[in-house]
Amino acid sequence: MLHDLETDRLTLRSWTPQDAGFVFDMYSRPDVRRYIGQGHVMQERDEAVKLLERWSELQHPVHHIWAVERTADEQLLGALLLKSIPASGTGDAPSGDTEIGWHFHPDAWGSGYASEAARRVLDHAWAAGLERVVAVTNPENVASMAVCRRIGMTHRGQSDAYYDTVCELFDVWRT
Ligand SMILES: CC(C)(COP(=O)(O)OP(=O)(O)OC[C@H]1O[C@@H](n2cnc3c(N)ncnc32)[C@H](O)[C@@H]1OP(=O)(O)O)[C@@H](O)C(=O)NCCC(=O)NCCS
Repeated sequence: MLHDLETDRLTLRSWTPQDAGFVFDMYSRPDVRRYIGQGHVMQERDEAVKLLERWSELQHPVHHIWAVERTADEQLLGALLLKSIPASGTGDAPSGDTEIGWHFHPDAWGSGYASEAARRVLDHAWAAGLERVVAVTNPENVASMAVCRRIGMTHRGQSDAYYDTVCELFDVWRT
């Protein structure tokens, strides 16, 4: 099990079943789901319970899906993901690349929390020996592309290499 990660304002920890209410609240919002996958908006709390179960099955020495909490008041803010990214045309087979991603509750937007958490996860990735991390966004997802740039990722243009779709591709290498 991975240790919690800390930043000035944030604690990144593993999810617990008690977080299902927050996860449902976040993913039942069209604003949050708009640019994620097929844009499916959660309808039932049980979908959040099952998602947390799937996330807890991801046992990996480096990859993880963290709950991001504001340390001062333990308010949950969102999810920070470091995981294998599936290759297009393979039915979800791993591409061999690692992606970083961020899904935050609208109440937590506009405070720099996603970028602060993502920077910490990149540090974790380098410390664990990864050489390169990618991020892919919907071409209209301006807020997410801004996070990529804030944390030092480089825009590589559009790519259809992942998720059977065309995305804006960003990457960053260990220095
Ligand atoms: C993508 C997403 C995480 C971006 O969130 P965000 O809060 O805009 O991103 P950051 O954490 O980098 O915060 C930057 C904002 O905080 C502001 N800010 C305030 N205090 C700050 C601080 N101390 N440090 C940095 N930025 C700060 C910045 O000015 C910026 O606001 P602006 O865009 O209005 O100028 C959010 O829009 C989201 O969760 N979207 C839905 C899910 C999604 O699409 N995920 C991406 C899939 S690829």
